[in-house]
Amino acid sequence: MALTTHLDKPRTGCYSAYNRLRNRLYCVWDHTQRTGGVLIVTIREVAERAGVSTSTVSHVVNETRYVSPAIHVRVRQAMAELGYQPNALARSLRVKRSQTLGMLVPDIANPFFAEIVRAIEEVAFQAGYSLFLCSSEGDLAKERLFANVLVEKQVDGIVFVAAGASVDVVERLVARAVPMVLIDRELPGVQVDVVLADNLAGGKNATAHLAELGHRRIACITGPSELTLSAQRVIGYRATLQEYAIAPDETLVRRGSFDFASGLCLTQTLLDLPNRPTAIFACNDVMAIGAMHAVLTAGLRVPEEISVIGFDDVPVAPYTNPPLTTIAQPIAGFGQTAIQMLLARIADKDLPAQRQTLPMHLIIRASTARVPA
Ligand code: RIB
Repeated sequence: MALTTHLDKPRTGCYSAYNRLRNRLYCVWDHTQRTGGVLIVTIREVAERAGVSTSTVSHVVNETRYVSPAIHVRVRQAMAELGYQPNALARSLRVKRSQTLGMLVPDIANPFFAEIVRAIEEVAFQAGYSLFLCSSEGDLAKERLFANVLVEKQVDGIVFVAAGASVDVVERLVARAVPMVLIDRELPGVQVDVVLADNLAGGKNATAHLAELGHRRIACITGPSELTLSAQRVIGYRATLQEYAIAPDETLVRRGSFDFASGLCLTQTLLDLPNRPTAIFACNDVMAIGAMHAVLTAGLRVPEEISVIGFDDVPVAPYTNPPLTTIAQPIAGFGQTAIQMLLARIADKDLPAQRQTLPMHLIIRASTARVPA
């Protein structure tokens, strides 16, 4: 493709700007002719244009040695006029830092993970890092594939939320000495940095809130049973029933999948019980929203007939009808703590494994009320 550009000579006095632009276009045209139309400006051409050596240009680009302000300006001007873009991959190989981080989550469609990603990205950006995000959709093969892709992309470290209980990916990353931090979901038997929320206390607080409202028929829709955090929330639920002298009833406990459909379907089975619950603790907000839909579809009201409490405090929780009572996850704390841990690990791979558990708190809205008379 020949670059044909005709510039009318300006009638006014801005010839210098006209000449600069004309020169600029000529340089681009000349370049594209020599590189077959692909504008790849080399460090050599920047050096020629600035009248310096290629090593001087390299020192300016990588800030690896002092260069006088005058020469610095000449090199920067030549780069701008030629449209030179430093090669990030080459630089990362040379300085062994890409200033990029990887993040692997199980389901980006779940608003909880979207919030976590936003929090991590915000802190990473403030620390001078870009973020590559991968969502495994709960597929362990994809989780393994994406972990490899992130390593091949030369990320400096990985923030990892496990899709299930498999330690395979983490063990592979440990074997390759890739700095990483697990957040939200711990994996048994692996010695890596981990930031968790206090899921046991969260389960207790949710159940105690309902017991304080006089509920005795409290159902629990749990998360996937292979996740440690699901077990911890249910342990908190059972311990609180015992604390309030409420007899446990296994027909009130259902195994969910952290999605809308399981919240809806499992609530329908709970409502069909001869002695149905008056309150439901759903172990995440997505299932709680499905549960509320099931209650309303059955012609009942939330919270007049059935109280519903969730877990996460996703952005939509205040806007459901009625607004959802829930347990708020420490989203900002995950972001800050995880990135601090990961950057410390990148700086020193021999640090002992760190573990932090962050508090949660109850958010009372309109989806819970006193037990019906
Ligand atoms: O909503 C998704 C759930 O899985 C959250 O409770 C969070 O803990 C994640 O692990």
